[in-house]
Amino acid sequence: MELTIETKLKLNDDNLIPQLGLGVWQISPARTSDTVLAALEAKYRHIDTASAYGNEESVGAAIRMSGIPRESIFLTTKLWNSDHGNPERALDTSLRRLKMDYVDLYLIHFPVRQRRQSWRALEALRKKGKARSIGVSNFTISHLSELLAESETVPAVNQVEFHPYLYQQDLLAFCRAKGIVIEAYSPLTHGERLKDPKLVAIAKRYETKSTAQILIRWALQHGLVVIPKSSNRRRILENADVFDFEISRDDMRLLDSFDENLRTCWDPSDAP
Ligand SMILES: NC(=O)c1ccc[n+]([C@@H]2O[C@H](COP(=O)([O-])OP(=O)(O)OC[C@H]3O[C@@H](n4cnc5c(N)ncnc54)[C@H](OP(=O)(O)O)[C@@H]3O)[C@@H](O)[C@H]2O)c1
Repeated sequence: MELTIETKLKLNDDNLIPQLGLGVWQISPARTSDTVLAALEAKYRHIDTASAYGNEESVGAAIRMSGIPRESIFLTTKLWNSDHGNPERALDTSLRRLKMDYVDLYLIHFPVRQRRQSWRALEALRKKGKARSIGVSNFTISHLSELLAESETVPAVNQVEFHPYLYQQDLLAFCRAKGIVIEAYSPLTHGERLKDPKLVAIAKRYETKSTAQILIRWALQHGLVVIPKSSNRRRILENADVFDFEISRDDMRLLDSFDENLRTCWDPSDAP
C-alpha cells in the first residue's frame, strides 16, 4: 500500500491513528501554538504532547485556532509519574488545559511501580469516553507481559524510543504478536546521529532527501507510528515530505544493521 501523509493504522480497539505525528517535547509554551499551527498547515493531523511537557494549553489553543474539526485531529497526552495516585484527576487537569472533553490517546508515560493499578484507572477513563484509546510508553516486554497477564485490555500502543540505532526487534515482534502498535519516539535520535557518515551515505542515494527524512521513512516502512519533533517551520515541512520516495530493500537492511542500543532518552529496562 502506498504511504501518504493521510495514512492511518488501525489500533486494536478499531480507532485509527495517523502514522506520522508531531512531537512537542521541549517546545516552550510560547512557541508551541505557532509550531502546532505550522504542522497542521503542513497536513499533520496527529500531535503528541504530555502533561510533563508543560505545553498542553498551547496545543489546545492551536487546534482551536486552526479551525480544523476536532475529530480530524488525533491528540495524545500522557499520565505523568507523580500523578499515578489519581489518574482521573490528572486527565481531567490535562483536558482542562487543552479545553477539550476527550483525548484520542492517553498513555502511561513511564512504567512506575503503580502502573498496574493506574492501568485499571485508564480502562475506566476509556469507558467514560475521556480517552478514546489507552496505551503505555517506555514499557519493555517484561512490563507488557505483566500487564497482559492480569488485564482485559491490551494497550493500543507502546510509545518507545525507536530508530535504526535502537532497533528493538524483539519488542517490535512481541507488540505485533499482541496487536500493540509501536510509536517511535525520538525517531531522529534526538538529533544525535543526523550527521553519521553511514546515514549520510544512504541519504545521498536519494538525492534530495536528508538524513532526517531517511530516518522517518525507515520508521514508516517498518509500519511504525513516528512522531518527529521540530519547532522550525522549514523542518516541520521537511519531515512530512517523505511520501514521494521509497527506501530500497537493501538500504532498509543496511539501516537495520545500525543498531547500537543507543538510548538518547531514558532507559526503562531497569524499572522494576
Ligand atoms: N514517551 C516518552 O517518554 C518520550 C520520550 C522522548 C520523546 N517523546 C516524543 O517523541 C517526540 C520526538 O522525540 P524527540 O523530541 O526526543 O526527538 P527527535 O524528534 O528525534 O529529534 C528532535 C531534534 O531534531 C531536530 N530536528 C527535527 N527535524 C529535523 C530535520 N529535518 N533536520 C535536522 N534536525 C531536525 C530538532 O530541532 P528543531 O526543533 O530545531 O528542528 C530537535 O533538536 C517528542 O517530541 C515527544 O513527543 C516521548
